[in-house]
Amino acid sequence: MCTPPWTRCRGNEKVVENANHVERSKRDREAVAAIYQTDLGQMIHGKIEDALEDPLLDAVRGKVNLLLTSPPFPLVRKKRYGNETGEAYLRWIESLAEPLADLLAPDGSIVIEIGNAWEPGVPVMSTLPLEALFAFKKAANLKLCQHVICHNPARLPSPAAWVNIARSRLKDSYTHVWWLSKTETPKADNRKVLNPYSKDMRKLLKSQKYNAGVRPSGHVISETGFLTDHGGSIGPNVIDLSGEHFPEALLKFTGTKWDAAYRAYCKAKSLPAHPARMQSSLSAFFIQFLTDEGDLVLDPFGGSNTTGSVAEELKRRWIAVEADRSYIDGSLGRFDLADEELLVDNDR
Ligand SMILES: C[S@@+](CC[C@H](N)C(=O)[O-])C[C@H]1O[C@@H](n2cnc3c(N)ncnc32)[C@H](O)[C@@H]1O
Repeated sequence: MCTPPWTRCRGNEKVVENANHVERSKRDREAVAAIYQTDLGQMIHGKIEDALEDPLLDAVRGKVNLLLTSPPFPLVRKKRYGNETGEAYLRWIESLAEPLADLLAPDGSIVIEIGNAWEPGVPVMSTLPLEALFAFKKAANLKLCQHVICHNPARLPSPAAWVNIARSRLKDSYTHVWWLSKTETPKADNRKVLNPYSKDMRKLLKSQKYNAGVRPSGHVISETGFLTDHGGSIGPNVIDLSGEHFPEALLKFTGTKWDAAYRAYCKAKSLPAHPARMQSSLSAFFIQFLTDEGDLVLDPFGGSNTTGSVAEELKRRWIAVEADRSYIDGSLGRFDLADEELLVDNDR
């Protein structure tokens, strides 16, 4: 295996691919630069649309095993870094589909987490996130492998105007996770993210006794089908972040513990903690479900680099791209870097 991900092997020699490439093209391309690297990954500053045209990503074209991201939200008003709105957002996300899909290994996956959006000033949901998904899927001829719901019952009630004040809508407590691929059969193994067995199932496995036969639902339960201990039960397509049946593989990434060093670092440096961080346990779930150790994970909208830090912990190579330098500076709090791993000046 040739690591880090942005290097190419020529015989025994590793060739660093233009780690600080800042060339501008004739159109209004903005600079793209690697800011820091670790044993397994690299954080790139710049817009993904510019990074996709930069030699920095050449070495990984066709080699990304998992593209895991939560894109900037389709906003109704412009925010930092000019997130596009409405139709412009659709065209923008659509234009990224093909170049991003080109980065994928033949059996690679794209996993996109996106929440619900609401029309401004009215208790009506926006269909923009769904339209964006369809536009993205169609533009790169992707297969929808599965739609997963990420349920977080602990989320504060929102949208507040309709949930808390008018009391006419229910609390919005889940995000959509869309798993896409260029193939119907991307690499995936649900045995890596098994849920713990229930108390009843553990009892059954111990006693080796249960009632076989036809259930009222019509399901035929065989004499021995439930007697083998597979190490846990197959998880559903709803990931419940409250944790009652949480896959054991994720336990170390749950709750606020994983984020503690990051938040303390941002506070100490007076940097903004990223306001829309992905749940680290969600990153860990898909990285373990869809990749092996040594595989390459890419997050084109890296933010606080949850994806990169979880990938590093799980021994996967990673690349993250983020447009806002202050979020990159904050993401340093997720790593314990030596000075030579910082590729640009930083008074951390
Ligand atoms: C929802 S956040 C991602 C949060 C991230 N998953 C985390 O856990 O911190 C989306 C990020 O995309 C960044 N962004 C917006 N437009 C971008 C672009 N064109 N290229 C790269 N990053 C962009 C934003 O600055 C923001 O940090």
